[in-house]
Amino acid sequence: MNDRFIINGGQIQSGEIQVQGAKNFALKALAATLLTDQSCQIDKLPEIYDVRVLLDLLKKLGKKISYHKQNCVIDQEKSDLVKIDKDLAHKVRASVVFAGPILAKYGQVILPHPGGDVIGRRPIDFFTKGFEKMGAQAKSEQGDFVIQAPAGLKAAEIFFPKISVTATEALALAAVLAKGTTILKNCSIEPEVTQLLNHLVKMGAQIQGIGTSTLSIKGVSKLKGVKFTMMPDRLEAGTFIMMALMNKINLKVKNCQPEHLEAVLEYLTRAGAKFKIGSNSVEVLRLKKPLQATGIQTHEYPGFATDLQPIYTLLMTQAQGLAMIHEPIFEGRLFFTDALNRMGADIIMCDPHRVLVAGPSQLRPKNIESPDIRAGMTLLLAAILAQGQSVIENAQIIDRGYEKIEQRLQAIGVDIHRVN
Ligand code: EPU
Repeated sequence: MNDRFIINGGQIQSGEIQVQGAKNFALKALAATLLTDQSCQIDKLPEIYDVRVLLDLLKKLGKKISYHKQNCVIDQEKSDLVKIDKDLAHKVRASVVFAGPILAKYGQVILPHPGGDVIGRRPIDFFTKGFEKMGAQAKSEQGDFVIQAPAGLKAAEIFFPKISVTATEALALAAVLAKGTTILKNCSIEPEVTQLLNHLVKMGAQIQGIGTSTLSIKGVSKLKGVKFTMMPDRLEAGTFIMMALMNKINLKVKNCQPEHLEAVLEYLTRAGAKFKIGSNSVEVLRLKKPLQATGIQTHEYPGFATDLQPIYTLLMTQAQGLAMIHEPIFEGRLFFTDALNRMGADIIMCDPHRVLVAGPSQLRPKNIESPDIRAGMTLLLAAILAQGQSVIENAQIIDRGYEKIEQRLQAIGVDIHRVN
């Protein structure tokens, strides 16, 4: 069944909007529950599609789940289940992170190739090579990776050729129960990774170097259950901040951590935006004159997040001048600009990693398909800018990362509804 959003553009008011829990931490916190037989309780777990898929995966791996109004309790029901469900794994990239805990705990995992957004090549060689260094053997069987370490995982020194969020997380999730001290180098320091590592420490893991690119992880024999509240989603916060700027409204973005938004706030300030920063909020002040086009290059944290690039690209269609957008991390993350051009934007693709945006452009309504979470949200925001009725097909893709987005936008006057 396919949902679609119907949007009558040109309508949005100043006000407030609340940020939900961070998707890219939530998914890994769910994987971490596989490391313990004890009960785990997660509060403010966002009710998004990817979370539902991983909860179903956990059930198939022997967990008992109770999930009501963003409060989730996860208990162990059966043990020794090592096969990650193929259909569910194909739906989300984060399923790959489950491999670490299962392999560390039971000495074996059957991992189907993970799914997720089509934003470029998304190999898993860092994972398989990392597990091999820790003493496991990986082979391919009927489209699955069968990874075995009958004598248990042992410590290793692993250097990631590129900074990778999920590879850092998967190897850390394995090393916490391995024999000896594992050293991981060139690790991701995204806030969601740091939060996961701190979370593992609360479960009893021994980790040095959290927040730096080198981690030293001394394996322990057991981890315990935890109770915690989800951190806010910096990508959702960044989305709403830029939505306010492109629509020239005043918007208080509540329940966010401004310290996680430094790069985006720095670039937006250079372009002419003004903010009132609180301890857990960012108020976007109504723009008095148009933004000046300002180029960006996406970068691993603390640089400009690749996940916010599509929304920034749309914002630049409303700024004055030429902005070069450089996306070195994924080679498929700029193709959505073709849809923006069909809506009236003036964007030239230089190569798969770079586009040149000329602004300002008056956008026109269109019927358009949502390609991935962030590009889908970008097209939804473009539809709010365009006077007239647009239809965004494949609304579920946006639901993967943004909880009940239409209800939160309706609260600030956007004319949007869902049809299925
Ligand atoms: N890479 C490899 N080999 C690997 C793993 C990664 O070559 O084994 C490369 C990728 O091809 C890419 C680079 O490393 O060029 C970085 O990719 P990374 O592994 O960091 O991406 P990811 O872990 O698959 C996570 C988020 C993405 C986010 C990226 C970058 C999750 C579930 N996904 O993906 O989030 O864009 O990090 O920050 O955490 C989203 O939320 O919309 C989203 C796509």
